[in-house]
Amino acid sequence: MQERRSASEDDWLGARSHPRVQPAYFDSKADCWILSRYADVVAALHSPELLLVGPSHKKGELIVDEDARLGMRLETREALSSKVLRSVRRQMFEDARAQLASLHWGQPVDLIKDYAEPVCLALALQVTQPSCNDIDSLNQLARQVSASSADPFALELKSRSKAASAALCPYFASGPMPLRESGFVALSQTMVHLLGNVWFGLINHPEEWSRLHCQPALIARGVEELLRFAGLTRFVYRRAQADTMVNGICIRHGERLTLRIFAANRDPDRFSNPNEVSVMRRGLGQVSLGAGRHACVGAPLIRTATVAATYTLVERLPKVRLLSPISWRGGDGFRSPSSLPVVASL
Ligand code: HEM
Repeated sequence: MQERRSASEDDWLGARSHPRVQPAYFDSKADCWILSRYADVVAALHSPELLLVGPSHKKGELIVDEDARLGMRLETREALSSKVLRSVRRQMFEDARAQLASLHWGQPVDLIKDYAEPVCLALALQVTQPSCNDIDSLNQLARQVSASSADPFALELKSRSKAASAALCPYFASGPMPLRESGFVALSQTMVHLLGNVWFGLINHPEEWSRLHCQPALIARGVEELLRFAGLTRFVYRRAQADTMVNGICIRHGERLTLRIFAANRDPDRFSNPNEVSVMRRGLGQVSLGAGRHACVGAPLIRTATVAATYTLVERLPKVRLLSPISWRGGDGFRSPSSLPVVASL
């Protein structure tokens, strides 16, 4: 059933509220379709008639070099061979264990600043190998690019991000495009945000933390469930290049669509008790890293890193207690906890 109505309000999908999952409707104020049901979102992600656009894409023809995109995907997949992923995994486990061992667990530890940030920076350096020794400067520039991705409608952040990205570019001159400066930003910054969300979800489900501590073999399934529950991507955007039907929804040529990834991942028609974390959950299929034609080519890297960093954390600590109410950072692109101050409760 289709419903056309005006609805400009944005359901903020923060940790305290549950996302609304509703029939597809056309938001006349935003001038775009809003899809939030799992079946609708997955159909849209697989539709060849829907082109990937950015959040602020204006009307007009889109010129897409599909051959170049497919070539980029192939080149990146080859660069992220299983041999490379095994080496990344080994190094990440080593870095994560060393970092956790260096912390003083008798006092509060910030899982973001003290753990996720250094481990993700090491990962980014290993994978993208910049030709620059001033790691602090690279990290600062990457932070500026990431701030704009997190809040894509903030104009001031956008111009700073453009300059920072141009400054980063010369240090990442070889390899597939996604593993150059954008890969460095994704791994050193976005990954930190992702881990922040995932761990916040896990800390709020202490029984699931304990389960992973006692049964570490569940970690891959657990990470998939945490990506569903607390993945970073809130929305992705499309524009129709022809009249098309998407799971029974009639989309006209030129119309824009917002796909509410976060809501689709909590659709009760797809996931039972969707607002609970269960690392034992069967029937996965979360869409936090996209799906179909434009699915994230960095996904194997993201899964490897999330598994290594989370496994190492729950392996070391049977329980943690969050110390203070957390504050959130980011914007319409993604949001995550600014810090996660915890104490180990043994
Ligand atoms: C750090 C966390 C990351 C998250 C949450 C994430 C999420 C996503 C999502 C949701 C999409 C689909 C976009 C859409 O359908 O409109 C996507 C696409 C993509 N991602 Fe990632 N990603 C991450 C890291 C990375 C990394 C490290 C790389 C580098 C290898 C990467 C490369 C790409 C590329 C190139 C695409 C576009 C693919 C295409 O259009 O064919 N991502 N990502």
